[in-house]
Amino acid sequence: MPVLINVSNTLDFNLSNSRISYVFRVSPEGLLEHLHFGGRVEPTANYPSTPRRLHRSCTLEFQDSEHYNLSDVPQEYPVFGTTDNRYPALHAINKDGNSTHVFKYDSYEILDSKPRLAGLPSARGGDSQTLVVRLLDEVAQIQVDLSYTVYAEHDVIARSARITNIGESLVRLAHAMSSCLDMPAGDYDLMHLHGTWAREQNQKRMPVPQGRFALESANGTSGNVHNPFLALMDSNATERSGRVYGTAFVYSGNFAISVEMGEFDSVRVTTGINPFNFEWKLASGESFTCPESLQVFSPNGLNGMSQIWHKFVKEKISPPQFKGKARPTYLNSWEAAYFDINEDKVLELADRTKSLGLDMLVVDDGWFEGRDDDTSSLGDWFSDQQKFPNGIEAVAAKVKAKGLKFGLWFEPEMVNPDSQLFREHPDWIIHVPKRVSSKGRNQLTLDLSREDVRNYLFDCIDPILSSGHIDYVKWDMNRVMSEIGSASLSANRQLETAHRYMLGVYALIEKIVSKHPQVLFENCASGGNRFDLGMLHYMAQSWTSDMSEPIGRLPIQNGASHLFPPCVMASYIGPVPSHLNGRKVSVKTRAEVGFFCAARGLSLNAEDVDADFEELKHYAKLYKDTADDVVNGTFHRVQYDDNEVCWQLTSSDGSKVYLGYFHILSAANLPFRRARLVDIDASRQYRLQDSDLTFGGDALMHMGIDLPYVCAMQWSDAEYLDKGDFASKLFVFERV
Ligand code: DGJ
Repeated sequence: MPVLINVSNTLDFNLSNSRISYVFRVSPEGLLEHLHFGGRVEPTANYPSTPRRLHRSCTLEFQDSEHYNLSDVPQEYPVFGTTDNRYPALHAINKDGNSTHVFKYDSYEILDSKPRLAGLPSARGGDSQTLVVRLLDEVAQIQVDLSYTVYAEHDVIARSARITNIGESLVRLAHAMSSCLDMPAGDYDLMHLHGTWAREQNQKRMPVPQGRFALESANGTSGNVHNPFLALMDSNATERSGRVYGTAFVYSGNFAISVEMGEFDSVRVTTGINPFNFEWKLASGESFTCPESLQVFSPNGLNGMSQIWHKFVKEKISPPQFKGKARPTYLNSWEAAYFDINEDKVLELADRTKSLGLDMLVVDDGWFEGRDDDTSSLGDWFSDQQKFPNGIEAVAAKVKAKGLKFGLWFEPEMVNPDSQLFREHPDWIIHVPKRVSSKGRNQLTLDLSREDVRNYLFDCIDPILSSGHIDYVKWDMNRVMSEIGSASLSANRQLETAHRYMLGVYALIEKIVSKHPQVLFENCASGGNRFDLGMLHYMAQSWTSDMSEPIGRLPIQNGASHLFPPCVMASYIGPVPSHLNGRKVSVKTRAEVGFFCAARGLSLNAEDVDADFEELKHYAKLYKDTADDVVNGTFHRVQYDDNEVCWQLTSSDGSKVYLGYFHILSAANLPFRRARLVDIDASRQYRLQDSDLTFGGDALMHMGIDLPYVCAMQWSDAEYLDKGDFASKLFVFERV
C-alpha cells in the first residue's frame, strides 16, 4: 500500500496521490483549518498559504484569540455559534438547549482499508488509505469523526462524518453535512444538472453569486429537479482546461449542496442531507453517520473531471460483478404494449427479440394481479391469472427456452390504494395522522422504514428471482413523497422519516441483490428521478430518462455524462411519433443517440419491428458487436450546443473510435464544421469504416475531421446526413 497520508509533528495532514493533494491542519486553538485541495503539493513544514490573522475592523475574534475570525478562515467542519455565521457543516441543539459549538482536535487514525458506512452505500476502498480525525466538543459532549479516503489511482477524496453523543442527555441534530470544502477567494463558476420528468440532467453553468446558492431536494428522492452533483470551477475553465472541483453525494434521498460566497469572497461548498424538514435525535451513546460525499479535482476542465468520475464510478461505485461486462441488448415491452401484455404477446415479442438478434426480453409494467392501468395493484406482486395463467415464471422459462434472457419490472416501494396490500395494511404507507394522503400516479409510498414492510416485499420478490428464470430486474419508483411521516415513529421523531425510509430502501435492496448477485438490476425512477451514486452502488445501470425520443434525449445524455459513464446508462429505440413529444425521427438517429449508452435495446411492438425490420436488425447487430467497447470505453463530449452535438467513445484498447454527430435543425447554407477527436494515439493511423480513407491520429485530433454537411441542395450524396432535421452520423475509426 503506497503511503498516501502524511501527518507532520505539528499536525498538518497531507493526503496526496501523484496528482492531487488535500491538505489541512490543526490551528493553535485546536480547530481544523483547510489549506488546499487541488494539484499535488509535497508534504512540508512550511506551506506558503495559510489562514491569515490580521486585524480587520468590524469582525469578530474567535474566543480570546488575536485577530482570528472564523468567518474568514477555511475550515474542515465549521459549526455555528462562535465567529462564523455562514452556513455550517453541523448545527446541533445540545443538552443545554443552545446551538453554540466548538469542536477541537482530539486524535487521528490511519486505516489501510476503507470501512463501509453503516447501512449506507459508499465507494469501495482498495489502493487507498483512510484518515479518521476525531473532534470533540467537551462542553456539549459531542464527538465528530471526520473520515477522508484518498486513492492512489483516483483523483477523488471520499468523505463522511459520524456524530456521536458522548454525554448523558439528548442531542438534536438539525443539520449534519457530510463534507465542507472551503475554497479561497477567487472567480468561480458553478455547474449543475437540473430538470424534471423526461427532461432531466440539463446542464447549467453560472458565476458563483454573492450569497448562497443551493441545490436541494425535499422530495424524498435525490430527484430529477437537481442531481446531487455540482462542479465548481475557475471562471475561465472550459471542457478541456482549467481547475474543476466536482462534488457528488452517494445518497438517493433528500440532499442539499450549498455554495456560499461570503463577505470576503471565499466560497464554501457543503454537501449533505437536506436540513430542511430533518431532525435526528441522538440519545446518550448514539451515533449518526452522514452519507458519503465525494470530491474530485481536475486541472483539465470539465471533460477532465468527467474522466475522473467515470473511472471512479466504474471501479469503486458500481457492483463489481458487472464491471466490464457487456450489457444484454433487449426488447422492453413498455412502449410496445404498455399494460396490454399477456403470455401470447410476450411470446410474440420474444420471437421478434430473437429474430432481431437481441439478447433479452423485458416484461415491464402490467404483469401482476389486476394491473390493467396505473390505477391499481402496485403492492400485489403476484402474476395476473388472466394474462399469465401459468405464472410469470413459466413465461420466463418459455422465453429462456428460445435462447433469450428474461427481465422483469417491479416497483416495490409503492402501493395503489386499490390493491389487496393497501386494503390489508392501510398504515403501511408514508403518511401523517388526520390528513388525506396525496397521490401521485394514483399511488402511495410504502413506509420502508418499517421492517415488516420490507419483509413483505422481500418475501414477494425473492421467490420470483429464486425461480432462476430472471436475469434482469428494472426497479422502478414513480412518485415523490408527501405527508411525510411514519406510524412506526413517535411524534418527536417524525422528522427522521425520510432518512429512515432511505435506510430501509438500501437495506431491502442490499438483501435482495446480495442474495441474487447474478441478476442485473436497473435503477429507474420515472426515468432519472433517482439517478445517483447511491442507487448505482447496488445497481449496475440506470434508466436514463423516459424521454426515448433522441432529440429530447441529447441534452439528457450530455448532461448526465458529466458524472456518469456510458456503462451505467440505459436507452432504447422507441416508437414514432414519439409518445412523449410527438416528434418523428429516423431509426438511424434513434439508434445512434442510444448507441452511447451501454444498455441498449428497443421498445417497439411487433408491427413496428416488422416495418423497420432490416434496419433494426442492423442496429441490433451493431449494438451487440460494440457492447464491449461501450461498456469499457472512454467517453468524451466533443461538441455541444443547441443545434449540434458530437460525442466520442474510444474502446479501452484504443483500437476503435466512435464519433457520433447529431444535427438537430437543418438550415440553408450552413457553415462547414469539423470535429477534433480527443485523446487518441497521435502516432497511429485510423481507417474510417465503410470508406477507403485512412487518417493520422495527429490530424484527427489537431485538424479535425470534416463533419457531414446538412443541406438538401447538395449534389453529392457522399457527405450527407439525412438531408433534413434530426440527422445523425456515426463515424467508426479503426486503428491500423
Ligand atoms: C416509469 C418508467 O420510467 C417507464 O420506463 C416504465 O417502466 C413505467 N414507469 C411503467 O409504469
